[in-house]
Amino acid sequence: MTFNTVRISPSILSADFARLGEEVRAIEAAGAALVHFDVMDNHYVPNLTIGPLVCEAIRPHVQIPIDVHLMVEPVDALIPLFAKAGANIITFHPEASRHVDRTLQLIRDLGCKAGIVLNPATPLDWMDHVMDRLDIVLLMSVNPGFGGQKFIPSTLPKLRAARARIQAHEAAGGQPIWLEVDGGVKTDNIAEIVAAGADTCVAGSAVFGAPDADGGYRTVMQQLISAAGPIAPRAAPSLP
Ligand code: DX5
Ligand code: ZN
Repeated sequence: MTFNTVRISPSILSADFARLGEEVRAIEAAGAALVHFDVMDNHYVPNLTIGPLVCEAIRPHVQIPIDVHLMVEPVDALIPLFAKAGANIITFHPEASRHVDRTLQLIRDLGCKAGIVLNPATPLDWMDHVMDRLDIVLLMSVNPGFGGQKFIPSTLPKLRAARARIQAHEAAGGQPIWLEVDGGVKTDNIAEIVAAGADTCVAGSAVFGAPDADGGYRTVMQQLISAAGPIAPRAAPSLP
């Protein structure tokens, strides 16, 4: 049996915004599978970050997919703008959308991969009636709004339960669904996170906290991937 490695999606929330093009090029060169792009609106979460203009600005700097995490309410109006700006994956918090099924369809109709993001206290039940429309499920392992927070341990049993649902769906002939985790992922906990079922890990402060000057991003990325160990191919559908 062949094995794959975990996908790392460095969150540019912890990057140097004054040198964003350089920063995303550096993480791609260091082995990042995706660029995690955190969108905060000072309404759904108490912080304000970046929008489609910044997505469009970084797009020519990298080949890897841009993984847009929308922490906004309402959701729908921003989706076409991000699709146009070069986003490849768009995830949103379902309680921030009036019509979750419609929002998922909208994302896919625009040619992007679609997914829902569940906060630490948000149940997995949100997956129930939209399994066929999901390309990715993102479990928050911190409360959204800020980088550099501590991993919430109850995410581990939740990951196992989400993985079981995805496995049952795939075994019944359903499409592959990625399982991503976001918040507080570090070299000392990534092994248990991946063992619990994650195939994609966001890492913000863990990656961008390393000095890049001496190849620090590459070093930390390799440490994350090797600490995570091999993962079964069933957990790693191909990139969009
Ligand atoms: C939090 C964001 C995360 C954050 C992760 O709301 O969605 O993507 O940047 O940062 P770390 O890895 O530092 O917890
Ligand atoms: Zn995020």
